[in-house]
Amino acid sequence: MIGTGYVGLVSGVCFADIGNQVICVDKDKNKIDKLSSGISPIYEPGLNELIKKNYLAKRLSFTTNIDKAINSSDIIFICVGTPTKKGSIKVDLSFVYKCAKDILKYSKRKKIVVTKSTVPLGTGEELEKIFSRKKKLLTVISNPEFLREGEAIRDFRYPDRIVIGSNEKKAINKMKKLYTPITNKGSKFFTTSRRGAELIKYASNAFLATKITYINELANLCEKTGVNIEDISLGIGSDSRIGGRFLRAGPAYGGSCFPKDTKGLISAADKYKINLSVIKSVIKSNQERVNLLTQRIHKILGQNIKNKKISFLGVTFKPNTDDMRDSTSLKMIPYLSKKGAKINYYDPSGEKNEFKKIKNCNYRNNIKSNCNGADLIVLLTEWDEFKSIDFKKIVKNNKFKVYDLRNLYSAKEMKKNKIKYYSVGRPNLN
Ligand SMILES: NC(=O)c1ccc[n+]([C@@H]2O[C@H](COP(=O)([O-])OP(=O)(O)OC[C@H]3O[C@@H](n4cnc5c(N)ncnc54)[C@H](O)[C@@H]3O)[C@@H](O)[C@H]2O)c1
Repeated sequence: MIGTGYVGLVSGVCFADIGNQVICVDKDKNKIDKLSSGISPIYEPGLNELIKKNYLAKRLSFTTNIDKAINSSDIIFICVGTPTKKGSIKVDLSFVYKCAKDILKYSKRKKIVVTKSTVPLGTGEELEKIFSRKKKLLTVISNPEFLREGEAIRDFRYPDRIVIGSNEKKAINKMKKLYTPITNKGSKFFTTSRRGAELIKYASNAFLATKITYINELANLCEKTGVNIEDISLGIGSDSRIGGRFLRAGPAYGGSCFPKDTKGLISAADKYKINLSVIKSVIKSNQERVNLLTQRIHKILGQNIKNKKISFLGVTFKPNTDDMRDSTSLKMIPYLSKKGAKINYYDPSGEKNEFKKIKNCNYRNNIKSNCNGADLIVLLTEWDEFKSIDFKKIVKNNKFKVYDLRNLYSAKEMKKNKIKYYSVGRPNLN
């Protein structure tokens, strides 16, 4: 596994756990040092235990030595990042191409090279061009990953589907064998062209981003009309053609995948002069949502927010991960701090480097000290420990308000407790 991030590490550990010999290689020495002493460099429930178990069983090893890792492997998974290029919507494939050059350099016998990273359609062909000198040794296939951070181990073990993009029978059979312990438990295994597999990944993420954006826009309409968005989600989601998941209104979508993959899909389509206008609107609407919700905070607190105390509960883009990439908090907190608000935040995954230099922004290491004395509590991420807070008991300020961006609490209960409470797309009972 080249790249021991959220995808490479979880996949490597899980492949080891079903009996394979796995070498995880990363250029980041810090990560490899941590892993070699049994500590996961990322927060992912259950991962530490699996690392230890498979490391002790000698099925799993960690190294920065890519030469040795490539030489000893039959199947090489490329799991490095594919971020958006700065100032563009294009995908930065430089990490993938660096891996390809290393694979070319160090491969001395037949290998299957698998892109598990999310790569634009046509990347497999580009890799083949790089490998042309050793084309008899290196077969390139696509096997996009669909795991979700926070649920990554479960998702890897019980995926809805395993997609293999290749026309090479031998390579497909090897992948089938590798995944047999997983498909035996009922996961669908299907093959398509390499380009097809590459596109499936982008198309899935863009579709999910569209669902989120759609329900978020409907929530805006509900707020104006006194309709409850949760009834709408249930009403439309009960239709089996639509399905109820990804229909919970809340903050803008964020994370390391949806923002970059929606852009990546448009950029790929642009190359073929295809206008993906739906996805373009989704990106625009999602960017506007961050501003809209930030302005809502303004409105709840009154126009002058100087010296107002705002306490954030959760700053990651979703619970059970420490991943901050493209989280709504990264835009909201600096903006509110600039306007003079005093920000506290608490996140169960710990303090964030991203906020260390933000003026008047302090990390608190528990809910109570975070919320004490707040004028406004913004509930941004639905970590379990935020689901049953006795606000009255901890805030110690009679005038505090709560803005629940995840609709975790009942507006009726809040009203009964005389707490000014705002949520997303639900009738305002204040
Ligand atoms: N994070 C997710 O939830 C998720 C889910 C599905 C697919 N993906 C896709 O998987 C890919 C990886 O995502 P991630 O979140 O795991 O990324 P990440 O940034 O967490 O990890 C990438 C790792 O690759 C290492 N790396 C980069 N270049 C290297 C090289 N030449 N040699 C060795 N190591 C190298 C980096 O040091 C880093 O540790 C991306 O394409 C992403 O879109 C991510």
